[in-house]
Amino acid sequence: METYQTQILSPNEETIAIAKEEILSGGIVGMPTETVYGLAANAFSSSALLKIFEAKGRPQDNPLIVHISGYEMLEQVTSCFSETARKLAEAFWPGPLTMILPKSDCLPCEVTAGLDTVGIRMPSHPVALDFIRACGVPIAAPSANLSGKPSPTKAEHVLKDLNGKIRWILEGGECQVGLESTVVRVEDDKVDLLRPGGITVENLLEVVSEVHVNDGVFAQLKEGEKAASPGMKYKHYSPDANVILVRGRLNSFCRYVQEHMDDATGVLVFDGEEKHFNIPCITYGARKDSAAQGNRLFDALRELDEKGLKTVYVREPDQEGVGLAVYNRLLRSCGFQVITAPRQKPFIVGLTGQTGSGKSTVCRLLQEQNMKHIDCDVISRKVSEIASVKEQMMTLFGKAVFDEEGNLNRKALAKLVFTDPSEMKKLDSVMYPVITKQILHEINRYSEEGYEIVLLDAPTLFESGADRFCDYILSVIAPEKERKQRIMKRDSLTEQEAENRMKAQKQDSFYKERSDALICNSGEISDLEKQVSEAAGKIRENANGN
Ligand code: TXA
Ligand code: MG
Repeated sequence: METYQTQILSPNEETIAIAKEEILSGGIVGMPTETVYGLAANAFSSSALLKIFEAKGRPQDNPLIVHISGYEMLEQVTSCFSETARKLAEAFWPGPLTMILPKSDCLPCEVTAGLDTVGIRMPSHPVALDFIRACGVPIAAPSANLSGKPSPTKAEHVLKDLNGKIRWILEGGECQVGLESTVVRVEDDKVDLLRPGGITVENLLEVVSEVHVNDGVFAQLKEGEKAASPGMKYKHYSPDANVILVRGRLNSFCRYVQEHMDDATGVLVFDGEEKHFNIPCITYGARKDSAAQGNRLFDALRELDEKGLKTVYVREPDQEGVGLAVYNRLLRSCGFQVITAPRQKPFIVGLTGQTGSGKSTVCRLLQEQNMKHIDCDVISRKVSEIASVKEQMMTLFGKAVFDEEGNLNRKALAKLVFTDPSEMKKLDSVMYPVITKQILHEINRYSEEGYEIVLLDAPTLFESGADRFCDYILSVIAPEKERKQRIMKRDSLTEQEAENRMKAQKQDSFYKERSDALICNSGEISDLEKQVSEAAGKIRENANGN
């Protein structure tokens, strides 16, 4: 194989002409798309197509996707564009949808690996469209990674995998979707999902009445079983480390990792969870944000290799929407190794929310539903009376936060920390470790007493890291105006003082991203009661399930 000095080209008329020259003279080029970077070749050149398989180390029975820049290219690639295909194209092209359709006679067998169907897609990335249009031929392109490695979502990833094997990589920035296209086989009006991606099942169902999800999306092929899509056969998206998907809530996950880790173990977790681990830790998007997870996943898998880890435990993503694609890629990158972390009793419900949101009312209503209460405010108060804690506070804040008898002056302390975040941090560093110990103590006690469900009521559940004890998290939010009024009344504060206190509070989105359920308290008690009773039902359901 020839070797080259691989270069990343910033896209403009001139560099696109250079890349086009490479394609039309039978070469291969790294090309950005909105899903992942592709390794492009003229779809009609058998010798160029063979170079793709060689550069990637890809098995030749795995067919390539053909990319077009406009509908005028269609008849060169497919012999039959059905009504259903047309409807799907109208809805999702240009974009991350590949359709498997009957191939045209002029396509060489290297593209389709001898099958009589071909995968076709019109990408939406402007550089891809400009480039294909400039080439004037349909472009065959698999993902531009070494076979078996995570797909590239940045030009540097392509460089890392294919350095010396190709002349040019067109720069297109970070891929917006970050996962390969959704692949559907379209036969007459039947739509079979072979690979989930950025276009979700829900999206497809807005256009067609039925979508059949192929078994290969969730499970490994059995010995001798024929793959609907040859790509299903191969190990994929795999970092060097042994990746294991761990099913279960954050608390079970943490416990499992704690019990199984050694000095070459790391974790792949959701944004904001890194504080729970003192081993190498990489994040891949917020827990409730599948699109962000999709966008981050492959980059995160590549980062794992840079850390030289042997075993990596991964938090399991939700499977809704784009989450299905995230889950599917993770299943493959871990070679279908999924472990369920055992759950312990009691079922712990974290209850948190903005100050003045009505969290205490929600808590009271839930206690009426036979849930045992751990009040972190009470714990915090007790902890601040402990002699060693008081000593530390004296060292950090001085006499100003104590009265003449040496008792903590809570109002003075509150004023100090609510106006200065760095003072708040200092206070947290003294209080949180002791509070955590106390929480664990209470959980153990209720566990021994046989309680099924315990409410862990903590205004700073996430900030303190106490979220890791929870099986389920319920957050209470309320409109700003309502909250201000409630705080002023409850703590006899002036408007200014209430506003200061609210400034330290997180926005609604903070709670939305991190919670299993939200209660929005508009101030109407009957509405609140209804929401709480629904939440209690959901909590029970979860506590009884797995
Ligand atoms: O987003 C994407 O689709 C990216 C970018 C570059 O467009 N491309 C991509 O290509 O992911 P590749 O080769 O890594 O994956 C193509 C998948 C493989 O699993 C292959 O088996 C399947 O599509 N495929 C291609 N042609 C097929 C056919 N005729 N029948 C069934 N599956 C097919
Ligand atoms: Mg690929």
